[in-house]
Amino acid sequence: MTSPATSTLVVTGANRGIGLELVRRFLADGAWRIHAACRAPESAMALADLAAGHPDRLTVHPLDVTDAGSVAAFAEALGEAPVDLLINNAGVLNPHQTLDDLDFAAWERELQVNTLAPMRMAVALRPQLRRAANPRIVTISSQMGSLARPRGGSYAYRSSKAAVNKAMQGLAIDLEADGICVVVMHPGWVRTSMGGGSAEIDPQESAAGIFSVATRLSMADTGSFLQWNGEIHPW
Ligand SMILES: NC(=O)c1ccc[n+]([C@@H]2O[C@H](COP(=O)([O-])OP(=O)(O)OC[C@H]3O[C@@H](n4cnc5c(N)ncnc54)[C@H](OP(=O)(O)O)[C@@H]3O)[C@@H](O)[C@H]2O)c1
Repeated sequence: MTSPATSTLVVTGANRGIGLELVRRFLADGAWRIHAACRAPESAMALADLAAGHPDRLTVHPLDVTDAGSVAAFAEALGEAPVDLLINNAGVLNPHQTLDDLDFAAWERELQVNTLAPMRMAVALRPQLRRAANPRIVTISSQMGSLARPRGGSYAYRSSKAAVNKAMQGLAIDLEADGICVVVMHPGWVRTSMGGGSAEIDPQESAAGIFSVATRLSMADTGSFLQWNGEIHPW
C-alpha cells in the first residue's frame, strides 16, 4: 500500500513522450497528487488507463497551452490547493527549418508553444505555487537552445528554446521573493516522436532523471540550466 500523496504536480503535454513517462514516474513514487494536462483527453488512452488505476492520485485535464482561455480554465479547475511542482513539458518542433524551406507561420506557432506557454502557465499558476512549502517550476528546454553550442538549421526550435531559457532566467529572479525555484532542463536526446528512433536515451531514463532532479531542487538551484542527469548545462 502506498502512503497518501503529500505533494502536487502539474505536467503539460502529458499524453505521450516524455510527459507521459513523467506521469508514470511520479505515480510510481506514491507521494504525488498529479494533474496531467493534454490537448485531447478523449484520445489520450494511456493516460486514461493510468487515471483509472489511480483515481485518487491522477486527474487528467484538457489544456492547450497556447490558448489563454484554456490556461485560465485549467488554473481555475485546480482551485486553491497548493502546487508544489509545475513541469512545462509541452513542446513542438516543426519540420520546415532549413534556409530553403523556412515556414515563418510555423515558427510563430512554435514560439507560442515553446516560449510563451511556459510563461503563461507560470503566471496563471503563481497563486497555487505561492501556497506550497517548496514550490518549483521546471521548464523542459533543450540543448538546442544553448548559445554555447553554435549550430545551423532548426532556426525555429533553437530560437524558441533559447528564448524560453532567457525568460525563465528572468522569472527565477522575479519569483525569488515568492520562494519559487525556477530552472530549465535539457531532458537528453530522447526516443520520442520528436527525438526520433536514433536518439540516445529512452523516455523512461529521461523521466527518471528529471524526477530525481526536480524532487531535490531548492532555492539554491534557482536560475539554473540543468541536464536530466543533474549536471549543469552551459547556457
Ligand atoms: N525528445 C527529445 O529528444 C527532446 C530533446 C530536447 C528537448 N525536448 C523537449 O522535451 C519536451 C517533450 O518532448 P517529447 O520528446 O516528449 O515530444 P513529443 O513526444 O512530440 O510530445 C510533445 C507533447 O507536447 C504536446 N503539445 C504540443 N503542443 C501543445 C499545445 N499547444 N498544448 C498542449 N500540449 C501540446 C503534445 O500534445 P499532442 O499529442 O496533443 O500533440 C505532446 O504531448 C518538449 O518540450 C521538447 O521540446 C525533447
